Amino acid sequence: MDLLAYWKLKERPFEATWDTRFYFQSRDHDEALNRLTFLVEEKTMNMGMLTGEVGCGKTLTRAVFTKRLNPDRYCVVTQENSAFSFRDLLGGVLQKLDPNGKGHTKFARCDRLKLITERFHAEEKHLVLVFDEAQEMSPGGLNELKLLTNWNGGGQNFLTIILLGQPELRGLVSRLPAIDQRISLRFHLGPITAHECSAYLRHRLIAAGHSHGELFQPQAAERIFNTSKGIPREVNRLAKLALEYAWLCEMPSVMETAVDMIVRDLSRHQTLCAA
Ligand SMILES: Nc1ncnc2c1ncn2[C@@H]1O[C@H](COP(=O)(O)OP(=O)(O)OP(=O)(O)O)[C@@H](O)[C@H]1O
Ligand SMILES: [Mg+2]
Repeated sequence: MDLLAYWKLKERPFEATWDTRFYFQSRDHDEALNRLTFLVEEKTMNMGMLTGEVGCGKTLTRAVFTKRLNPDRYCVVTQENSAFSFRDLLGGVLQKLDPNGKGHTKFARCDRLKLITERFHAEEKHLVLVFDEAQEMSPGGLNELKLLTNWNGGGQNFLTIILLGQPELRGLVSRLPAIDQRISLRFHLGPITAHECSAYLRHRLIAAGHSHGELFQPQAAERIFNTSKGIPREVNRLAKLALEYAWLCEMPSVMETAVDMIVRDLSRHQTLCAA
């Protein structure tokens, strides 16, 4: 019997994707979503920043946030990778909004984007630019984002910029007062708690088609939490391997020994790699 049939699943529950169907609303993820939504609805703030440890769920939260916004009122353009010059970043944004437009200098691109935001505003639509992996931006490139922040009218900004990035983004921003002062809303996404980790495992199993999601014994879930320190990407990696191991051993549910085996195997190989 294959893995899915053995565990009575319709699909694999712990894959490294940004499938919003698997989104689990922890306290922190919920707060991050609420703050981002407030930021774009308010329209009086220029910029927001969501930081968080590697693998905490920034990109998935961004995907859920984008999906939940009403497309009649918001146009969200996302740069998945921000390791480009300011001019190239603008080019990437315009490629999605105005692919046939003319004018490719930095200032021509700024002007084109300004016209687009004004047109959207006239149509009662708001433009949101999201720069993921913003910790990869050069300080100069990041600083130039200020050129996009003074387009407004009637007390409302025509554009909201959201920076997403790993913790070092905070340091980068703090050295750029012009950007730091424009970031009105910020949030740092932390790991999930032990209690949330058990609920997270259950939630992803149910999203993958399991009837009740109780496949991990409490001690196994606890061991996953302690090893992953509540970082969802690490939780996924351990849970996926433990589910496979327990299937191969024909365990009735995922026992602590399965997680133990996986953790020992991973640390042995990581030690070997480091040697
Ligand atoms: N709240 C959540 N609900 C369900 N799955 C989650 C959640 N948060 C994170 N994950 C899962 O954990 C993995 C890592 O998430 P994601 O890529 O969004 O993290 P990240 O913070 O953007 O990481 P990086 O710093 O590497 O960019 C993904 O597979 C994602 O599906
Ligand atoms: Mg990410």
